[in-house]
Amino acid sequence: MTNIAVFASGQGSNLQALIDAIAQGYLRANLALVVCDCPGAYCLVRAKNSGIPSFVFNPRDYSKKAHYEQIIKEKLDSLNVEFLILAGYMRLIGPTLLDHYPQRIINIHPSLLPLFPGKDAIGQALAAGVGVTGVTVHYVDEGMDTGPIITQEQVYLEQDETRDSLEQKIHALEHRLYPQVLQNIFGKKEDQNV
Ligand code: GRF
Repeated sequence: MTNIAVFASGQGSNLQALIDAIAQGYLRANLALVVCDCPGAYCLVRAKNSGIPSFVFNPRDYSKKAHYEQIIKEKLDSLNVEFLILAGYMRLIGPTLLDHYPQRIINIHPSLLPLFPGKDAIGQALAAGVGVTGVTVHYVDEGMDTGPIITQEQVYLEQDETRDSLEQKIHALEHRLYPQVLQNIFGKKEDQNV
């Protein structure tokens, strides 16, 4: 069983998809901690409802990223967390965590990277008038949505596509894809340990 922490900042619908996949036994992982940089975010309600401990912080209370990441690192170590799973975490990860978890920090992004990195990727795709966009799962590096790509899946835009309808399609894909990709990675790791 792989020990993971999920990092989130907002609604946490991807967090919920991971919680559900674990509960259903489809994703073999132990979700040891939810890390959130936004006190009051709905992802914290989801964690609480599922009995998952959370660590909440306000980055403004720290003069440097390294300070709060050091505290997070100590918490993760105390829980033997092996992988950091970013699910709508709206901050760049700094060297404190990157160096501690090489190839062990994973993110999901709602576009076909390298297209439309950063905020509001769905809005960026609509504004660009593309006929196809999608979802990317990738390893995290020091850049903004720049790390090595693990997998991508496409989503086609209809003639009458609206922001709402596109968001729904992309989120449905994310919620299916993320647990699947993570199980694939954790399963391979378990096989290697045997
Ligand atoms: C998702 O679209 C994810 O790909 C992106 O941020 C969004 C988070 O949504 N990184 P939620 O908080 O999981 O509902």
